[in-house]
Amino acid sequence: MEIRVLGSAAGGGFPQWNSNVGLNRALHEGATRAPARTQSSIAVRGTGDDWLLINASPDIREQILATPALRPAPNSRGTGIGAVLLMDSQIDHTAGLTLLREGAPLEVYCTRQAHEDLTTGWPLFNVLSHYCGANWHEVVPGQAFTLDCLPGVSLRAVALSSAAPPYSPHRQAPEPGDNIGLILTDEDSGRCVFYAPGLGDIDAALADEMAACDVLLVDGTFFTETEMIDQGVGKKTAASMGHLPQSGEAGMLAWLGRWPDKRRVLIHINNTNPILDPDSEPRAVVEQAGVEVAYDGMEITP
Ligand code: MLT
Ligand code: MN
Repeated sequence: MEIRVLGSAAGGGFPQWNSNVGLNRALHEGATRAPARTQSSIAVRGTGDDWLLINASPDIREQILATPALRPAPNSRGTGIGAVLLMDSQIDHTAGLTLLREGAPLEVYCTRQAHEDLTTGWPLFNVLSHYCGANWHEVVPGQAFTLDCLPGVSLRAVALSSAAPPYSPHRQAPEPGDNIGLILTDEDSGRCVFYAPGLGDIDAALADEMAACDVLLVDGTFFTETEMIDQGVGKKTAASMGHLPQSGEAGMLAWLGRWPDKRRVLIHINNTNPILDPDSEPRAVVEQAGVEVAYDGMEITP
């Protein structure tokens, strides 16, 4: 199994289009070593040639063009993307499907809750039916499954505590399945990856799941709970958006510190997060903890 990070930033990307604040400004002015990042998405390949796209970000066109393995065969139209799996119905994870409308019908895997959002509050499946069409395949948390496009890999979703998007019919009454983590297991080696770009809380059951995996590729959105408020760019806390910040006694770094022998990588990093800057103190704290910060183009072979 091979994982390619197509986009390592949170919604908005880095820099964000309407921000000339902090590291965004530093990047515009050439005053930081922090590289630009596109919005959250990974691709996974098993023993075959096709890739499973996990989340379709608004930057998908740029991401595909930057990844030769996803291109069609010479002298043909097509794609190396065999299917798409969505972790939730958030705009930054789904809007890219509209950009794939010129191709063949899309095979889209997501939970019943995400599908409900994507046929009501954000009716992407309805819109796509006028273009390539999208065939929905239900992902049921807890049930292992395989995909024809991903031979040699088994998958299992885990329902997470996070937040449904603002347009979700169950925004005020979150349901298990609004947001999932994914365990990908290489059937040959038995090695497995836990992927969760949006993770608001880790309970004992989830900690057991994570403890059983070899690689943790998890929510790196915010360093602190009130980062957007402190920087004067927003009113929302990390918790209200369903993200566990890295700092704090029960923060992501404290959790990851339990598993020093695993490969641990932060992804879905917001444009306000100081860990984007390789020369920052928070980045040094992350690196001293043995935790990596994902970048666009990063390859992970568990
Ligand atoms: C999130 O994960 O909370 C999103 O990136 C927010 C957004 O896209 O607006
Ligand atoms: Mn997001």
